[in-house]
Amino acid sequence: MADQTTTDERDDKARAEDRATRIAALCFGVSILAALGLLVVYLTGGDTQLEGILLTLAFGGVAAGLGVWVRVLIGPSVIVEPRDPMPSRAEDRAGFEQDFDSTVDEVKVGGRRRFLLQLLGGAGASLGLALTVPLLSLGPIFDPNARRELFDTSWSAGRRLVTIEGEELRPEMLAVDEIATVFPADSDRAADSQAVLVHTRPGAIDLSTLPYPDGVVDGLVVYSKICTHAGCPVGLYRAQDAELICPCHQSQFLVTAGAKVLSGPTGRPLPQLPIGVDDEGFLVATGEFSAPVGPSFWNLTQGQDS
Ligand code: FES
Repeated sequence: MADQTTTDERDDKARAEDRATRIAALCFGVSILAALGLLVVYLTGGDTQLEGILLTLAFGGVAAGLGVWVRVLIGPSVIVEPRDPMPSRAEDRAGFEQDFDSTVDEVKVGGRRRFLLQLLGGAGASLGLALTVPLLSLGPIFDPNARRELFDTSWSAGRRLVTIEGEELRPEMLAVDEIATVFPADSDRAADSQAVLVHTRPGAIDLSTLPYPDGVVDGLVVYSKICTHAGCPVGLYRAQDAELICPCHQSQFLVTAGAKVLSGPTGRPLPQLPIGVDDEGFLVATGEFSAPVGPSFWNLTQGQDS
């Protein structure tokens, strides 16, 4: 009867260990797939929510797998062992040698421990690979062609100014104190190219303060519409003071003085777009913006030289 009980207990233990092995393997497998998935999602454009979920699964899989492994396969976390007199008894030493040999054999021939160790190694390697992802966010360091992305827009000399509806503009179409949002004609209306055309009052512009003193037509001057603080569209115009105002954090730019900063958190003026009139009387750009558009970044001035 006692033998039968012992056999049943051994069977139960073996079944529990098999079940734990499968669960731990499943956890490590999930971790591997999640880490690789994270890499793929990042490289194909990224999705913040999905990346967060995958990162949780990658780390959670390793944690859960190790937890199952330690609790069930290695044994209870608290072990009380009577302190035997030293040295160990002969039968204990023999038992240890036997256990040790069987463990070594198991690892050598590919037993459970080896299997789980391999999966754990795979999970660690996948996670290590996924953790290289933040390096890719440091910028286009591996793509020299991408370096100009932040410095160029769709504007170029001869490109007509058009409204969002595509209407081409002549100087006389904008009354004094009026403003209009303009884009380069025949472009994809790229967000970084949007600009604001302002018709200032006669003689109000101090040309000496403009990056392009010649890039003004009869009181019409154009600046980037993207705030140099955090990129909001600078769409409010207080005509009386010739001030463009960003609605996000109230940066104010003086239109008649090169869009210099009057107040607010931004640190630099709005870049100017030089304009002229073509043979048919339409407003055109005569070059690119005077500086990179949008919020400042670490190599703002370096890029202008490259
Ligand atoms: S984004 Fe314009 S002031 Fe902050």
